[in-house]
Amino acid sequence: MSEVAFDGVTKRFGDVTAVDQLTLSIRDGEFMVLLGPSGCGKTTALRMVAGLETVTEGTLRIGDRVVNDVEAKDRDVAMVFQSYALYPHVTVAKNIESPLVARRFDTGDGSPRKLTSAERAERVTEAAAALGLTDLLGRKPAALSGGQRQRVALARAMVARPAAFLMDEPLSNLDAKLRAQTRIELVELHERLATTFVYVTHDQVEAMTMADRIAVLSDGRLQQVGPPQAVYDRPHNLFVARFIGSPPMNTVPGTVVRSEGATSVRLGGQSIEVEGLAAEPLADGTEVIIGVRPEDLVVDAAGQVEAEVRAVEWLGHERLVVCDLAGHQITIRQAAGDDPVATGDVLPLTADPAKVHLFDPDTTERLN
Ligand SMILES: Nc1ncnc2c1ncn2[C@@H]1O[C@H](COP(=O)(O)OP(=O)(O)OP(=O)(O)O)[C@@H](O)[C@H]1O
Ligand SMILES: [Mg+2]
Repeated sequence: MSEVAFDGVTKRFGDVTAVDQLTLSIRDGEFMVLLGPSGCGKTTALRMVAGLETVTEGTLRIGDRVVNDVEAKDRDVAMVFQSYALYPHVTVAKNIESPLVARRFDTGDGSPRKLTSAERAERVTEAAAALGLTDLLGRKPAALSGGQRQRVALARAMVARPAAFLMDEPLSNLDAKLRAQTRIELVELHERLATTFVYVTHDQVEAMTMADRIAVLSDGRLQQVGPPQAVYDRPHNLFVARFIGSPPMNTVPGTVVRSEGATSVRLGGQSIEVEGLAAEPLADGTEVIIGVRPEDLVVDAAGQVEAEVRAVEWLGHERLVVCDLAGHQITIRQAAGDDPVATGDVLPLTADPAKVHLFDPDTTERLN
């Protein structure tokens, strides 16, 4: 078990800055998800932890040891790749055993040694049982399903009992159903092993459902780190607001209006009340970007703003109502049982002032 800490870590490939001044402490035993779009530097950050990529600037620690110059094999981490990377010609048992064969392990007496074949077999049996592979140990990878292969890759990572597991999009080759199932299994595995997991994905659903904390990256830079719900409820900037949530948060430009006691924002002749500006009040007339999540816009006869319905998308358990609000397209999420709406309807809308987010149009930072 170990903390993994980036301190001002930068990675450059020639002119490309893949990871830019990353400072992030991953706690001992934590399930941390690095989340962001393609090319934002997730894999590069993980490969630096694994020792597969050098650190250009900054300090990387695992436990209390600076590992910038420690070789991959001496780092006590295990990496699971998207492609599984199993050995095709040997059995599942041999695949799982493979990390144990050449390495020396400290088995408790302070002097590392190779494991005996009985000790190796015991670890293979234990890892196979943990991942439901006991009946498959004699098969070769070609005779396994994608999900089973992924579990073999996880078992192989487990046998060395590493201080941290590093996973790079390990579920992306699985179909939707199996992905959902494997997400649950990974969370259970994490609870059982109580080991640090660093998990890379561009899939916000994976991040939201599995992480203790999410670190959102864009262009190599850390945008926000926090528990999934906190990041969802209070995105620090427009990038995070738009990246997390499906359909994404509605964002439209508006202007601050101040009157006694209350602050509201005006958009196209209508206005909507907001909370949380008391600490540093914004001047009347300040231009802002208003953000409201689709589920936080509610149809209400006393609604503050009006939007015209353009399209209704039925998803079975819910529907998405696409509307025009003062020339901007917005989406409202409704339960299947809510009053029906039709194209052309004008809906009076309201939002809880505590759920209206304001962002600076220039810096894109949160204002309330
Ligand atoms: N070996 C390399 N040489 C040059 N540039 C690289 C190298 N590896 C990565 N990059 C660049 O660094 C940036 C970050 O890449 P990285 O693979 O870390 O992104 P990612 O977030 O994992 O993306 P994806 O979701 O597509 O896997 C990209 O611009 C990429 O092109
Ligand atoms: Mg990647």
